[in-house]
Amino acid sequence: MAGVLIVLKFLMNLIFLVSASTCTERQVEATGIKGQATIIFCDSDLDNESSTFTWTKDNRTLEPSPQITMQGQILWLLNTTSSDGGLYVCRSSNSTFSTEIRVILSVEAGPCRSFSEIDLKQEKDNIKFSCSEERVPVLGETLEVQWWKDCKSTGIRGSELNLFNVSMSSKGNYTCMVIFRYEDKNYTASLTYQLEVMKKEIVINPQVLEPRDKTLYVKPGMSIKLECNLLIGIGEDCQQETSVYWMINHSYAMMPRYPDLQQNLTTEMRENSWLYGRSTLFIPEILPEFFGIPFQCVILNPNGNDIGQVWLSQDDYMTHIWLIIAVLPILAVIVGAVLLNFFKIDLILAYRHLCGKDKNIHEGNQYNAFVLYLHGKRPGSSTVEDFALRILPSMLEQQHNLKLFIHGRDTDTEAASIASISDVLSQSKAVMLILPGSTEDETLIPLSQDQNRLEDSQLSVLFSDISDSGVPLLLVESGENADYSLLPESIQSSIKKGRVLKWKPTVQPDGRFWKQLRYHMT
Ligand SMILES: *[C@@H]1O[C@H](CO)[C@@H](O)[C@H](O)[C@H]1NC(C)=O
Ligand SMILES: *[C@@H]1O[C@H](CO)[C@@H](O)[C@H](O)[C@H]1NC(C)=O
Ligand SMILES: *[C@@H]1O[C@H](CO)[C@@H](O)[C@H](O)[C@H]1NC(C)=O
Ligand SMILES: *[C@@H]1O[C@H](CO)[C@@H](O)[C@H](O)[C@H]1NC(C)=O
Ligand SMILES: *[C@@H]1O[C@H](CO)[C@@H](O)[C@H](O)[C@H]1NC(C)=O
Ligand SMILES: *[C@@H]1O[C@H](CO)[C@@H](O)[C@H](O)[C@H]1NC(C)=O
Ligand SMILES: *[C@@H]1O[C@H](CO)[C@@H](O)[C@H](O)[C@H]1NC(C)=O
Ligand SMILES: *[C@@H]1O[C@H](CO)[C@@H](O)[C@H](O)[C@H]1NC(C)=O
Ligand SMILES: *[C@@H]1O[C@H](CO)[C@@H](O)[C@H](O)[C@H]1NC(C)=O
Repeated sequence: MAGVLIVLKFLMNLIFLVSASTCTERQVEATGIKGQATIIFCDSDLDNESSTFTWTKDNRTLEPSPQITMQGQILWLLNTTSSDGGLYVCRSSNSTFSTEIRVILSVEAGPCRSFSEIDLKQEKDNIKFSCSEERVPVLGETLEVQWWKDCKSTGIRGSELNLFNVSMSSKGNYTCMVIFRYEDKNYTASLTYQLEVMKKEIVINPQVLEPRDKTLYVKPGMSIKLECNLLIGIGEDCQQETSVYWMINHSYAMMPRYPDLQQNLTTEMRENSWLYGRSTLFIPEILPEFFGIPFQCVILNPNGNDIGQVWLSQDDYMTHIWLIIAVLPILAVIVGAVLLNFFKIDLILAYRHLCGKDKNIHEGNQYNAFVLYLHGKRPGSSTVEDFALRILPSMLEQQHNLKLFIHGRDTDTEAASIASISDVLSQSKAVMLILPGSTEDETLIPLSQDQNRLEDSQLSVLFSDISDSGVPLLLVESGENADYSLLPESIQSSIKKGRVLKWKPTVQPDGRFWKQLRYHMT
């Protein structure tokens, strides 16, 4: 019965309206459920206080009976049967007007009705279904309200049913069975709601991807195209409810004040139907007032809004040029100095090579260097000897055509005596002293009675000759912690810092060591 009332109200849109001067006729359809109470509502314009309502069914006037109760605008069929189906006419009248409402009732087997009010919800929404007396008017006393889903009892009682956080499985037909007691009998009225649940769409807030807050350096008078990359949303449709526009100093850019500006939006669909856009603002001429005010790209739709900002700043390019003019030479000088220092020796050697100066012993010098190697205090250190007698000649004499006077080698072959050493010195461009390291391998087999080993007295004569000759000294340390104590004070004091070289067996033939050596003796 209650359902009929609801359906009746619900179908008012479909009402077939016939109007006459004193008589209005409407026709609606209604459904009753076999075995349940059916309520037929006479939805008349006339107020029920001063009007009378009469019901007829198939041209027979209805009288109250144990099965039929009439109260004003409402007709109850308390225990509906199949034969209750048919045309019901409600005539309402006051002294001047009379209205007719026609209701065509069909009876279903039940217990749940096939037609119901549809509620559309999105996932995660909440919904409340009500079967209060306003929706399902009852006679007598309401005993209980049961809720059924898809025509199966859920065990839930109460005039309202609340569903929170609905999901796809919440879909279905919810029926309330209102059981009321009237004149010592139990009757049932029902109402069904159909719940449809839609998948909640992922909501994407519109976004300005780029620029967020950018400064462009421009010159007044030039033209510029400001660009703004956007994420609009999902699907083609989202563009229709989206606005994209530019603002200048917080006012709409397309104002009459700037008639030449042009705005344009292009869109592109990418993966997962995400819609991206690019909005451009074409400024044919940058006016002086455009500097220092914000240009904003705005995107707006029901899901939200976002703003990206661009500032124009005067491109002070003369300052840049001056800066470049001032800084570049300084940089060049610094870089040049560093490079020159690093490659100085290579450059000089190359120069000398070009001029042929490295081959000829110039200015009357016969030797590039007078070489004197010293033995350690411990006997048997052969590293110095190996360097002086084998490595040095093979590198400098054979590969670079330098001429060396190696003490201990050439003193024997040329039968030079200590006395002639000063002549040799005077013809040498440099004196090369080779010092042994003090951590020489002690396990070396001692060379007993080394014939080349100089007596201390001979050494001191040699050193004084070297000091007297004034030939520049070159010191080569042939090992870690070179033993300076082998040198007399006078020699030690005349050694210059830049003329001390360290030799290691790992030195490459084209290494810096050899270049420096050649540099100092050519
Ligand atoms: C009858 O009902 C109509 C419409 O509601 C109203 O205008 C009229 O005054 C009523 N007549 C009387 C006598 O109440
Ligand atoms: C009801 O009565 C009207 C005339 O009074 C008649 O035209 C109509 O056919 C009758 N309907 C039924 C169902 O008897
Ligand atoms: C008229 O309708 C109201 C509510 O709609 C109800 O309270 C009242 O009893 C009705 N009067 C008559 C005479 O049916
Ligand atoms: C309704 O009618 C059916 C048969 O017509 C009967 O069996 C049933 O008891 C009735 N119910 C009530 C509440 O009168
Ligand atoms: C709910 O009722 C409607 C209309 O009677 C029907 O089309 C639909 O299949 C029903 N839904 C379920 C889940 O039973
Ligand atoms: C809503 O239901 C879903 C699953 O059905 C659950 O993951 C989620 O936490 C629920 N949310 C709330 C607010 O209860
Ligand atoms: C009516 O319903 C009440 C409560 O549901 C129950 O106690 C009673 O027996 C029922 N009476 C009849 C006649 O069915
Ligand atoms: C907007 O851009 C599109 C594509 O670049 C172009 O075809 C169209 O002419 C432009 N419209 C305006 C008003 O600039
Ligand atoms: C920008 O707007 C501010 C106030 O919003 C105003 O004081 C200023 O004059 C405007 N600048 C330009 C160049 O329009």
